[in-house]
Amino acid sequence: MTDLPQPAHAPLPKSGLMGWPARLIASRRFQRWAAGFPLTRRLVRREGEALFDLLAGFCHSQVLMALVQFDIPERLLERPMTADQLARLCAVPLERIEILLRAAVSLGLIKCKRNLTYTLSRRGAALVGVPGLSAMIKHHDILYRDLADPAAFFRGETETELASFWPYVFGGEMEAEVADTYSDLMAQSQELVAEDTLRALDFASVERVLDVGGGSGAFLEQLGRAYPALNLVLFDLPKVAPTAQPRFERAGMAARCRIACGSFINDPIPQGADGITLIRVLYDHSDATVAALLAKCFAALPPGGRLFISEPMLGGDAPDRAGDAYFALYTLAMQTGKTRSIGEISTLCRAAGFEILRAPKPLRPFVTRCLEVRKPKGQKTVNNY
Ligand SMILES: C[S@@+](CC[C@H](N)C(=O)[O-])C[C@H]1O[C@@H](n2cnc3c(N)ncnc32)[C@H](O)[C@@H]1O
Repeated sequence: MTDLPQPAHAPLPKSGLMGWPARLIASRRFQRWAAGFPLTRRLVRREGEALFDLLAGFCHSQVLMALVQFDIPERLLERPMTADQLARLCAVPLERIEILLRAAVSLGLIKCKRNLTYTLSRRGAALVGVPGLSAMIKHHDILYRDLADPAAFFRGETETELASFWPYVFGGEMEAEVADTYSDLMAQSQELVAEDTLRALDFASVERVLDVGGGSGAFLEQLGRAYPALNLVLFDLPKVAPTAQPRFERAGMAARCRIACGSFINDPIPQGADGITLIRVLYDHSDATVAALLAKCFAALPPGGRLFISEPMLGGDAPDRAGDAYFALYTLAMQTGKTRSIGEISTLCRAAGFEILRAPKPLRPFVTRCLEVRKPKGQKTVNNY
């Protein structure tokens, strides 16, 4: 299923460079001419810079990773420091940390003042302030190793490490510590996801929400704060769901939060909610698993009941960097799931019987996109799946 129709016989490919044929642009003679011609000079330079940025992107990521590993953003948030001070604190030779710091300046993450002290830039400060971002950057060491041989990766010849980081994707048993590791990572990044989801979707007319694959309850906590009258039910695997209890107690929500354990693959999901949320759940799973899960959600909802989906998605007809060049690769490395477009998820929802209500314009597509669907009013609730 793709949102990009492909012609059977591709014509001479066109590029963005004023619509000239790609083969012409690729010729060395044309490049030399265009780089000197006043009307094309700037365009050629911009394209060259963009290409070089792509080429060097993996170094940029590793500069970011090194900054986070050395806690440099947190250290600079406390006070400006010289290279010498940072070298000692991070146990890195001065001449080497200077290279890292200059690289970070070039990437706009830190600033070097005239007195040779380093401070955080706005972007660097955001790096500290965005919940879960540093944890996600550190976690990328796994994906980075999985992508080390991209040809093998895309051919499907790599035994990826990410697949074992998310053990539930293969439906196997797992240790409590393993569940804790991935649940922590999810909970840390949930704040932004919940923020954007709650801005995009309206739960005002819902009475009871069931959060399927709700992890350690981070989304339900935010939802419960935003809607104090809502009843909340969390459903997740037996090693995961109980970890939400302390969170609900700390938030003073235990009385209106119920926790149910089970697998949506093998067990029924709880009944009685008029709203179901699937937050960052579908992209972990195959079309067949998603189709079966959506059918269970449809069966569990009353007529008029709504299903709210929120997760990073592909750009559809307009592939974007977050969805198509990051999340799609991440889920490919996980091996069982895939990042889908709004169109693809809508098709799966329609096949389960839902009608599409809305797909609000995403606030930050690199955080999440949302879709709201409804069980048609005339439909009966079926419990015998
Ligand atoms: C990517 S995490 C998202 C957690 C949470 N919704 C969030 O956005 O932070 C996917 C969640 O689905 C749960 N999950 C995976 N397979 C499941 C299954 N078969 N039944 C129930 N929950 C499952 C995982 O335990 C995990 O908590």
